[in-house]
Amino acid sequence: MTVTIVGSQLGDEGKGALVDLWGGNADIVVRYQGGDNAGHTVVEDGEEYKLSLVPSGAVRDKTGILGNGCVVNPRTLFDEIDALRERGLDPDVRVARRAHVIMPYHRVLDGIEEEAKSDDDLEAGTTGRGIGPTYEDKVGRRGIRVGDLLDSDVLRDRLEYVVPQKRAVVEEVFGLKAGEEFDIDALHEEYAAVGRRLAEEDMTVNAGDFLGRKLDDGAELLFEGAQGTSIDIDHGIYPYVTSSNPTAGGASTGSGVGPTVIGRGEVVGIVKAYLSRVGTGPLPTELDGDDEDLADYIREKGGEFGTVTGRPRRIGWLDVPMLRHAARASGFTGIAVNHLDVLAGLDEVKVGHAYDLDGERLETMPATTERWAECDPILKEFDPWPEVDWSTVAEDGYDALPANARTYLEYLSDEVGAPIYAVGVGPDRADTVELVDPFA
Ligand code: IMP
Repeated sequence: MTVTIVGSQLGDEGKGALVDLWGGNADIVVRYQGGDNAGHTVVEDGEEYKLSLVPSGAVRDKTGILGNGCVVNPRTLFDEIDALRERGLDPDVRVARRAHVIMPYHRVLDGIEEEAKSDDDLEAGTTGRGIGPTYEDKVGRRGIRVGDLLDSDVLRDRLEYVVPQKRAVVEEVFGLKAGEEFDIDALHEEYAAVGRRLAEEDMTVNAGDFLGRKLDDGAELLFEGAQGTSIDIDHGIYPYVTSSNPTAGGASTGSGVGPTVIGRGEVVGIVKAYLSRVGTGPLPTELDGDDEDLADYIREKGGEFGTVTGRPRRIGWLDVPMLRHAARASGFTGIAVNHLDVLAGLDEVKVGHAYDLDGERLETMPATTERWAECDPILKEFDPWPEVDWSTVAEDGYDALPANARTYLEYLSDEVGAPIYAVGVGPDRADTVELVDPFA
């Protein structure tokens, strides 16, 4: 069977903790979208591993697949694999031959375009990893795929077509000087060598075929979504989005496993008990102005600083219309709520229950970000819950949670129409109250 983990908000919901917890029961962990813009810390046997591309299961002797929906920076991939090997691990990572390659010029273009957009406040606040420009080339049918790296002649043909165009964009559209990242010979030399290493280490697969055979043999697959629903290219707050589909549909198109197979499995939405946002754009439930002290407090307590970029995250109350939207778009069968402990001990706990848009009450997100920016949250207040010994709660289970925290969780579960599978009450994998194991 399959279990798909999806971020319900703006990324950084703490998906990693659940991927760690449930990935233990999986045979294969599959990433289906995004690239090294994701940040993920895994703690195993007291050792901390920071990964941005390699699926976390690789730390736990699982096969990790980067599906065709991913964009792969081979420099990051090899750096992460080499670092794991230096620490005595032997990660089994396979990359889809259909996945697209992030080339050095993509990262340069990411920076240039963000800078250009900033004049009109339209920059997405990207991670600068070249994600958008690589997906652009994929859709524009001028991308370079992992399979192309395996054939030096094909690679050269692709580079000779695309690099002059990229150079022209830099020089003629933006009036800048194109550097070594736009040198066809240098690129060919480096990336043909990447292809040779991928081949020598037998790292590439026809992902859909590989996964289909594993499923036939009874393997358990965990699909690890990166980022979150509200930064999905189709369902998110365009244009302040990433360029892929973190929603559950992406698990199918990004891996080659059919939607009926994914749909027969579990789709678990990961929810942070409040909202955090790295990046620009509106945020109706943002704690700003008079609430800045509260935002600072939650940011510090929740460690809300970007894993990839180190940027402080913006903080807001939970946005429930956003969660209803996410639950529908991915068809959640369950939810996991993280960081519940961070809200403990506050004087007040609120959520944005609905929006007021020009006098109209909305229960879910409007389709344009401009209208979303005009939404005033209709807040609902909950009785706060106290600080308790969260490790004891994690050991004792759901009923040991403070009663007011349970009221909050049960409200959320009702609003999204999905049962609670897990509650995160601290940063470690052990600090999770598990109600349902989706693989069971
Ligand atoms: P990109 O994915 O680097 O192109 O960035 C596009 C938008 O997605 C920016 O607002 C980023 O801050 C956001 N983003 C990308 N990856 C993550 C993530 O893993 N967590 C949270 N936000 C992310």
